[in-house]
Amino acid sequence: MHRITFTQPDDWHLHLRDNANMSSVVSASARCFARVLVMPNLKPPITTCVQALDYRQRICAALTSHFNPLMTLYLTNNTSVTEIAKAKNIEQIIAVKYYPAGATTHSEAGVTDLRRVWDVLEAMQTYDLPLSIHGEVTAASIDLFDREKVFIEYVLDPLLEHFPKLRVVLEHITTQEAVEYVSNSDANLAATITAHHLLMNRNELLTGGIHPHHYCLPVLKREKHRQALLEAATSGNPKFFLGTDSAPHAKNAKESACGCAGIYTAPAALELYAEAFEQAQALDKLEGFASFYGADFYRLPRNTKTVTLEKRTWSMPAYFAYGEEKVVPLRAGTDIYWQLVQNDL
Ligand code: DOR
Ligand code: ZN
Repeated sequence: MHRITFTQPDDWHLHLRDNANMSSVVSASARCFARVLVMPNLKPPITTCVQALDYRQRICAALTSHFNPLMTLYLTNNTSVTEIAKAKNIEQIIAVKYYPAGATTHSEAGVTDLRRVWDVLEAMQTYDLPLSIHGEVTAASIDLFDREKVFIEYVLDPLLEHFPKLRVVLEHITTQEAVEYVSNSDANLAATITAHHLLMNRNELLTGGIHPHHYCLPVLKREKHRQALLEAATSGNPKFFLGTDSAPHAKNAKESACGCAGIYTAPAALELYAEAFEQAQALDKLEGFASFYGADFYRLPRNTKTVTLEKRTWSMPAYFAYGEEKVVPLRAGTDIYWQLVQNDL
């Protein structure tokens, strides 16, 4: 198959940053996605509806093309039930993001113990506002590679038991355990899967030297987990859908003695997913994963326009401008095998 046309996709997990950095990266996502779910981990974080709507305006102002950023609120120990009630009535705010404090980039303001926000979760269940979760424990005693598995057993499972009607997205899953847990749960739990976790295992991070541009959180896992993710993404199960977690950082901040977490995939996000699906001989399953199941989960209409991808090799630039700095994309200076050729926007 050398050319595929399918319904325009959405990205249900994206980091756009702010100001000049945001202006530099937003068009990479707008070139192919109709809607994106924008993560709130700015510094300071987006914790109120007013902040979310202001941030949304800045994003829209940076673009000329048609693009619909949907917003999240950052859950903190101080989030109020009133803010949740407000969010429920704002069409452009569709989820609340839970970062365990200390789990990842700008998560210092995250929740230290979920019991501190029990009333907020209760309200989200009542108002049917989905919870988007960074599913990793942060205890120093837990091995980095086990953070997701332990989170599922000790945090997620009790949470879902207590709030059976709360709709939850376990973001950027990385393990076989997560695939199994999500597959065996009811329809209120879904998961996003990134292109980088579908295409790379942890060897790509640490073989032949440290590759800082392959460092993200949750960290890449061993091959059997990648295989489980690939199987889930291409299964046609609507619980698994596209969320790139494209997370730009300045080149200097990545190529550093203490490089930060995040992989910038937006310039070839859809093309990279196509490569992964082709690898699994499941290109026919890409449309459901990329364009239907996320919209269905968030109870939004499916897109009606289409995009076309062609099997054609091109070279990813070594870097892009990022405000005053540079950002290095995944596959910098190397080949990408699919190309977006047209969309009837
Ligand atoms: O690798 C990551 N980068 N994982 C996250 O959870 C956050 C993200 C970021 O904001 O840079
Ligand atoms: Zn993220």
